[in-house]
Order: sequence, then structure tokens, then C-alpha cells
Amino acid sequence: MKHNLFFATLLVGFVSVIMGWVLHPREESPQPETMPLVPMMQQLLTDMHQVDIGIYTEDFELIEEGAGNISDHPTMTEKDKKLVKTTLGAEMEQFVEYDMIVHHHADSMRLAALQENMQEVLHHYRIVQQGCVNCHSNYRETISSARLKDGN
Ligand code: HEC
Repeated sequence: MKHNLFFATLLVGFVSVIMGWVLHPREESPQPETMPLVPMMQQLLTDMHQVDIGIYTEDFELIEEGAGNISDHPTMTEKDKKLVKTTLGAEMEQFVEYDMIVHHHADSMRLAALQENMQEVLHHYRIVQQGCVNCHSNYRETISSARLKDGN
């Protein structure tokens, strides 16, 4: 009996996630497809602020939108991509890894907001935040000075 209850709960949880996907697919994002690195980062900060407000006021729609914008954030312009690639060389792989962590967990945060599950929102929020900071600690200064040297 206990087992049945466990599986029933699991099933309900699973079905509600699927329903979330089906009934509330991510709306067409109004963001541009590519953006220079710095304004794109500033936008990410604005999105994190929006998520923060959603968390502290328990406004799940704000969280859903902010997290969705983070997970669908524009890619770098070709010019910036080239700059980052030549600056980082083999380290590029790790850079991309941090980016993927942010994308992935921002989307999980969005889905948790759809389910109004604040604990899950926070769980993924912390991973996203760690991803932002890890990338900055490792690469921000190097890339920033390469960009300045490059004259843009
Ligand atoms: C994969 C690496 C990476 C990830 C992940 C990342 N950033 Fe950045 N971020 C950078 C780099 C590189 C710079 C420096 C860009 C420059 O100065 O050319 C930067 C700069 C910034 C800046 C400073 C912009 C300015 O005005 O100089 C902010 C704010 C910022 N990031 C916010 C965020 C937030 C918020 C997240 C997570 C949601 C995030 N970043 C995730 C690489 C990353």
C-alpha cells in the first residue's frame, strides 16, 4: 500500500510537469538572437533582479519570465565569439560548460516557478548564481582586458 501511494505521488508529480510543458510552453521570446557580450550580461543581471523580486514577493510569474529570459538569453555576436575563442583557446570548453549550466538550470527554475515550488526555484537559482560567478572568477578579467585591447 505504501508503495502504491509512493508511485501514485510520483506519477502525479510527473504528469503535472508534463502538463506544465504542454499547457504552458515557453512563449516566443522578445529577445534578439545575438547581442554583444557586455549588454547581454547587463540584461542577465536585470533578469536575475526580476527573479529576485519574484522570489521575495512570491510572484511566480515574475520568476517564470525572468528565468525564461535567462535560459533563452541571446548568443554573443560573431565578433565577440571570435574574441572569446582566441582569448581562451582550449579553456573555451570550460567557458561553454558554465554557460550550459546557467541555461539548463534557469530553465529548471522556470519550470519550478510554473509549479509554484519555491524550494525548487531556490535550488536551481543557487546553481545558476554559482554558474555566473564561476565563469566570472575564471574568465571575466581576461576577456574584459582582451576586449579593451581589441579596441571595442
Ligand atoms: C560563460 C561565462 C559567463 C557566464 C555563465 C556569465 N557571465 Fe557575466 N560576464 C562574463 C564575461 C566574460 C564578462 C566580462 C565581459 C567584458 O567585460 O568584456 C561578464 C560580465 C558581466 C557583468 C558586467 C557587465 C559590465 O557592465 O561590465 C555582469 C553584470 C554579468 N556578467 C552578469 C552575469 C549574470 C547575472 C550571469 C548569470 C545569470 C552571468 N553574468 C553569467 C561571462 C559570463
